[in-house]
Amino acid sequence: MTIAVYPGSFDPIHNGHIDVIARAAKVFDRLIVMIANNDAKQPCFTLLERKQMIDESLKHLHNVETDILDGLLIETVYQKKAQVIVRGLRAVSDFEYEFQMALMNRRLKEDIETFFVVPSEDHTFISSRLVKEVARLGGEVGAFVPEHVKKALISKLQ
Ligand code: PNS
Repeated sequence: MTIAVYPGSFDPIHNGHIDVIARAAKVFDRLIVMIANNDAKQPCFTLLERKQMIDESLKHLHNVETDILDGLLIETVYQKKAQVIVRGLRAVSDFEYEFQMALMNRRLKEDIETFFVVPSEDHTFISSRLVKEVARLGGEVGAFVPEHVKKALISKLQ
């Protein structure tokens, strides 16, 4: 049984994340979407709000579950007996940061591999940061996030 963890800040989840999750869920027996705070970012939604939005978005994927990360990612991956960390790779610009994180995680636990999943080209330009900016300025975000996430963005940001 191959267990994979897909960590991220998901602030909020968008269609690019959902595409990566659906692709990874086809490959691994069990996929745990792990919601974390990124020290470099100021979150808009609480961890619990993010988890609720993700749970609602992933109801159709039966081998996917969600959890909130408290502490060091690699320790939790190890404790959950997962063998793989999944990350999405949208563009070359993502690569340097992802490469650095993958190597740091490998140095911390040699046996856990990072697998990169490329989302559909329809989604490669979507980021949580841009979706929040567009929503805050009154733009239409319905093509980038599920309907319930759009509603949450409008009530939080406008
Ligand atoms: O979606 P993001 O913001 O790019 O996700 C980054 C995240 C949350 C995966 C990363 O910041 C992380 O792993 N945080 C948990 C703390 C940790 O283990 N840091 C060391 C990473 S090598």
